Amino acid sequence: MSTKDRSPIRVALLGCGTVGGEVARLLTEQADELAARAGAPVKLVGIAVRRPDKHPELPQELLTSDAASLVVSDEVDVVVELIGGIEPVRGWLLAALRAGKSVVTANKALLADHSAELSEAADASGVDLYFEAAVAGAIPLLRPLRESLAGDRITRVMGIVNGTTNYILSAMDSTGAGYSETLDEASRLGYAEADPTADVDGYDAASKAAILASLAFHTRVTAGDVHREGIADVTSSDLAAAKLLGRTVKLLAICERVNSDDGVESVSVRVHPVMIPRSHQLAGVNGAFNAVYVEADAAGELMFYGQGAGGGPTASAVLGDLVAVARNKVLGGLGPRESAHAALPVRPMGQTPTRYHVSLDVADIAGVLAQVAQVFADHGVSIAAVRQRDRHSTASLVVVTHLAPDAALQATVDEIAKLDVVHEVVSVMRVEGED
Ligand code: HSE
Repeated sequence: MSTKDRSPIRVALLGCGTVGGEVARLLTEQADELAARAGAPVKLVGIAVRRPDKHPELPQELLTSDAASLVVSDEVDVVVELIGGIEPVRGWLLAALRAGKSVVTANKALLADHSAELSEAADASGVDLYFEAAVAGAIPLLRPLRESLAGDRITRVMGIVNGTTNYILSAMDSTGAGYSETLDEASRLGYAEADPTADVDGYDAASKAAILASLAFHTRVTAGDVHREGIADVTSSDLAAAKLLGRTVKLLAICERVNSDDGVESVSVRVHPVMIPRSHQLAGVNGAFNAVYVEADAAGELMFYGQGAGGGPTASAVLGDLVAVARNKVLGGLGPRESAHAALPVRPMGQTPTRYHVSLDVADIAGVLAQVAQVFADHGVSIAAVRQRDRHSTASLVVVTHLAPDAALQATVDEIAKLDVVHEVVSVMRVEGED
């Protein structure tokens, strides 16, 4: 039987904004090509949008505002969800999976909180759940973690997974401007959403970190397990302090295996600003681009780079998933299932080993360095480097530590800030990429 004569794989689209519109367009314009790759025609049979009358550009006969009915329709094989948010989408996708429909979604917030429930529903019905577009847009990243590296032992996934914050930090680095001013400019130019909270406060990156850690470490990690700090407190002084030492500041999602002294393995999953050397691969990722750096025992170091958002790039990932689901249906198989067998504990941030860069303005008198160093010693924190520059009656002191539990580093900084000889704590930031 030729591909064209096979029964079509019938697709329902939930949401038709920037990404959905691009998916609908490509499904129509590249129908023959996609059919050839999938092994059967991939046909759009319904589009659920909140206001059908607002979409004169779409085929009117496909439009409905009744997503709940569309997802369980006998005329649908696959549901592609591009609405976002948790409710009511969670209920619709669970209903679709339970009704035997495979699901392709880009919904990172939903996956970060509910992937166990969704995966279990997919398994119970023997259907697929694909979500490549949920993290880092066009970059093929989840499939490599889930499939290509399934035979390896991943030790770390560290990356820039939010374009908005990367754009802001890149601009602060190049202009020397402050955070608020740069955010305003990013909003004016359309690089930041009208409500940038999810991006600048790190929620978007935290959802992505949870998904990455779950796949990399075969462990269920939810957004609530992720230590999250955004970029609102990053100052021009932080960027200037970083520059002095040949570093820059990035908001990173960091997922890593951590071994305690007694050999117990856990995972640390966190999102926070860090200083990284300008020579690090991630330091050269500027503007709205994403990049993720993966370390695995046998593979060594890998780097994934590309566009992490936008209609075309995200649609590329969605269509890749859709072709995979269609192929599975044509051949009678299933894609990879959830892999959570390792069930590693998530390590609290306070117990996670990190390194700090602390920049202080101190009195330039005898014994100050000794006093500051004593506080580090009192908390069991080993100093890796100290740099001092004299000003008039003050000195600028920069201390970079070795790895120590984050809580000990935090307590050290709190105590140092109270010393009479410390005039100002100019910048405190974690350091990555130097070990
Ligand atoms: N708002 C995200 C970003 C894109 O700025 O990267 C979608 O995840």
